[in-house]
Amino acid sequence: MPDRYAGSRARLQRAARVLTGGVSSPFRAKAPVPLFFQDAAGPRLWDVDGNGYIDYALGWGPLILGHKHPELVETLRLQAARPHHYGAQHELEMEVAERLHALVPCAELCAFCCSGSEAVAAVFRLARAFTGRNRILRFEGHYHGWHDQELISYRPSPERMGPDHAPCPTLDSKGQPPNSLENVVVAPWNDLPALEDLFSRWGEEIAAVITEPVLCNSGCLEPEPGFLAELRSLTRRYGSLLIFDEVITGFRIALGGAQQHFGVTPDLATFGKAIAGGVVLSAFAGRKDVMEMMLSGAAFGGTFNGNPLAMAAAKTTLDLLAAGHGAALDHANRMGNLLRQGLEQAAEQAGIALRTTGFGAAFALHFTTHRPLRQYRDLRYDNKELLQHFLRGMLDEGVYLLPDGRVYTSVVHHQDEIAETIGAARKVLNQLPRMARC
Ligand SMILES: Cc1ncc(COP(=O)(O)O)c(C=O)c1O
Repeated sequence: MPDRYAGSRARLQRAARVLTGGVSSPFRAKAPVPLFFQDAAGPRLWDVDGNGYIDYALGWGPLILGHKHPELVETLRLQAARPHHYGAQHELEMEVAERLHALVPCAELCAFCCSGSEAVAAVFRLARAFTGRNRILRFEGHYHGWHDQELISYRPSPERMGPDHAPCPTLDSKGQPPNSLENVVVAPWNDLPALEDLFSRWGEEIAAVITEPVLCNSGCLEPEPGFLAELRSLTRRYGSLLIFDEVITGFRIALGGAQQHFGVTPDLATFGKAIAGGVVLSAFAGRKDVMEMMLSGAAFGGTFNGNPLAMAAAKTTLDLLAAGHGAALDHANRMGNLLRQGLEQAAEQAGIALRTTGFGAAFALHFTTHRPLRQYRDLRYDNKELLQHFLRGMLDEGVYLLPDGRVYTSVVHHQDEIAETIGAARKVLNQLPRMARC
C-alpha cells in the first residue's frame, strides 16, 4: 500500500538533521505521524502529501476562530504595515486590557507576556511577593508549563506517585533541580478531605493554590460541584491566594473563562492559547493589590510584552468572540457537545466502551469502563492502546486529533464537519480490535 504520509516522513528526516527531533516542541513528535502541513482554512488542514483533515487539534488550542479567519487575516495584514514592535506603550495594549477587564471577573488589572509558562511563572512570583510565603499547592496531573517550578507531578509514574490522599511531589523532567520540589505541596484533585488535611498541615505556609479549573491536560476532567467554591473558601481562610490557570479554559469555556462559568473568582488567573486566535500571546490578570506587587519589588518584564501584532490579533479575536453576547463561543461549545454525543452513540452501537469528559469546546476521549473519572489517577484505567488505534484510524479517515485524545472545536466547526467526523468515527470504531469490546 502506498504510504499516505511519505512526504511528511521525508521532511521529518530532513528536518531532524538540523532541528532537534525534527520538531519545534518534542510533545509534537508523539502524534501518530508528525505531519508537515502546507495549508489550512476554517476548520480544515492539508498536509504536504495533499491529505485533507478536519482539525480538532487547533494548534493545541489557540485557533478558537479556526484557520485564517478573514477578519483576523485583515487585522494582521493592516498591522503588518505598521510598526511591528515598540518595546514601549501604544494604544492597542490598553484596548486589549480594557476588554479583559470587562470580560474576566478577576481582572482588575492585566499584564501581557508571550507564553502560558511565562504567565504562570509571573503569578507564582506575585503570589509569593504578596503573601511573603513560598509554598505553592498544586494538583496531580495538572500542567502549568515546562519551567522547573511548573512541571511537577504532571505525569507521575505509579511507583513514584505515593498514597492517594497525599501524593508525593515528583519531578517530570531530567535536568530539573531536585530543590524544585522544596516549596511545593501536591494534592489529589476533586478530593476535599485530602485538601483540608494538607491545608491543616501546610496552610500557614501556602502562598497560593494553582489549579486548572477544568483539568484539560489530564483527560478534561471537570471539577465536582462545589469543589472550586471550597477551594476559594479554604484559601481565604488560610490567607493563601487562589490562581486559576485558564490557559485552556480562557475564551473557550465562556467569555469570562471558567471563573465566569463556575461563578468562582480567583485572585489571579493566567491566559494564553485562544486569547489572540493563534498569534503569540499570553496574559495574567487579577486583584489590583496583588498585580501591583510588580511595581514594588516583584520583578516582571519581557522584551516582547505588548507586541503590537499580538495586541491587534487579541483585540479582533476578543471582539469576534464577544459579539452578540458570545454567540460564536456558544456555537463552538454546541458543536463540541454535538460531537461528544455522536461519538458516544457511535461507540455504543459498535459495542466499545467510550466515555467523553469535559465541556463542549474542549473534551477528551476515554476508552474505559472505570467510574468515576474525577482525578489523574482514575486515568490509569483508560485503554491507551485502543486510543492510539482510534487516533490513527481517524487520521487515515481525515480527522486530525491530539495524541492524548483531547478534542477542541472552534467557531467555524459546523454541523457538516461534525456529521463527517461522526461518520468517520463509526467506521473506525467498528474496526477497533475486539479486545476492548464490552
Ligand atoms: C493549563 C496550561 N497552563 C500553562 C500552559 C503552558 O503554556 P505554553 O505552552 O504557552 O507555555 C499550558 C500549555 O498547554 C496549559 O495547558
